[in-house]
Amino acid sequence: MKAWGGRFEKPTDEFVEQFTASLPFDWRLFRVDVAGSIAHARMLGATGIITTEEAGEVEAGLQRIREQIESGRFEFDVADEDIHMAIERVLTEAIGAAGSKLHTARSRNDQVALDLRMYMKEEIVNCAGLVVALQETLLSVAAENRDAVMPGYTHLQRAQPVLVAHHILAYVQMLARDFVRLVQCFAAADVMPLGSAALAGTGFPIDRQMVADELGFERTGDNSMDSVSDRDFVLDFLGAASTIMVHLSRLCEEIVVWSSSEFGFVALDDAYTTGSSIMPQKKNPDVAELVRGKAGRVFGDLAAVQTMLKGLPLAYNRDLQEDKESVFDALDTVKDCLVAVAGMVGTMTIDADATEAAAGGFAAATDLADFLVEKGVAFRDAHEVVGKIVLDCEKTGKALDELSAQRLAEFHEAFSAGAPALGARDVIARHDSEGGTAPERVAEQFEAAAEQVASAREWLDERG
Ligand code: ARG
Repeated sequence: MKAWGGRFEKPTDEFVEQFTASLPFDWRLFRVDVAGSIAHARMLGATGIITTEEAGEVEAGLQRIREQIESGRFEFDVADEDIHMAIERVLTEAIGAAGSKLHTARSRNDQVALDLRMYMKEEIVNCAGLVVALQETLLSVAAENRDAVMPGYTHLQRAQPVLVAHHILAYVQMLARDFVRLVQCFAAADVMPLGSAALAGTGFPIDRQMVADELGFERTGDNSMDSVSDRDFVLDFLGAASTIMVHLSRLCEEIVVWSSSEFGFVALDDAYTTGSSIMPQKKNPDVAELVRGKAGRVFGDLAAVQTMLKGLPLAYNRDLQEDKESVFDALDTVKDCLVAVAGMVGTMTIDADATEAAAGGFAAATDLADFLVEKGVAFRDAHEVVGKIVLDCEKTGKALDELSAQRLAEFHEAFSAGAPALGARDVIARHDSEGGTAPERVAEQFEAAAEQVASAREWLDERG
């Protein structure tokens, strides 16, 4: 007999039972479901909707059910449809009449919205913690390689020399924005929907604020129809998760390229690489590749939920059940990827000689042009002159810093009084505009990043 079986004359088709069930995946919500039901029961008791004795029995029964599920002694039955009904059925079997009163002034529509919000709040904090942990790993890698230089790239062509730390700190910035987005997702989820009942609210004298306080919600939802059908917080999270994956996949792509023999900038730790079943020499950056690949899953999760929500009439529709697998998949994927990347980056070694060797060559060309500009040459003209110098070097097989002032003066008289130092470190030191790659500017970025991470840690600590 179903909890809703009163108006039915025939049992549910067996296939339909499987098809409509969410229990195989929403059992994950059991802890928050129990916590939400306990808060609801206490409120029903406090407002006199049920007796305080009944509320106490319900609470004790729910605690036991939580322990049963945690210890694997709970018998899941797909005929229960979802975790909410599974828990309610077992509760009622265990404690009788009081159990059948728990669902007073509540619907699964506001219950599932509550559960998902509670679950997401916890998981958003977990994700944010992993984002910060990765920032910390990147910061220590940057600090360990503080003096290392490398070519900065545009179009994956050597562009201008930069500090390796500057490059790594760019990812710390991306993750700082990811953290902010997660904080916003947390706020979007931090609205308590219970009391909306099926869609229209309830006639019982409920106390929504009590439930919100008990469960640690910032506020209660303002419109019952919106509250039971709003999944914006899910979209916000999937959007934030997608952007995290964009960032991780960019970093991983760099690591794939950098760990190739052609680049040889980094060596990945054996523990974070895998071999080939046929080619004995191979050490593959599979972790980086998989993270790059898994970005697609998370974008897919976002697209799935967006598409599911699009065009849904108010208020609750069963389509909404489809939000969960996407959210769970995105959560699992993003958390695993954050852990994987932190481990991989934290154990890799940067070959500072290789990066420095690659940072020379024509990467100083812009600086040579800038030197002419300082001598009063218009930038476009200077660009033209240096272009010709580069072309000549390519033909003669020389590097820019091998040319004497005399030779340079053949291209422009402004060089006759001397030429600028064109070593990668000289160039880097000159790029001292705000946010630039000069060591003192990078030191500022280190400081700012440390402050951001410290305040992120405070936010995390406040939320356990
Ligand atoms: N399993 C459902 C979901 O995940 C719970 C709500 C079902 N409500 C309903 N009236 N059928 O959305």
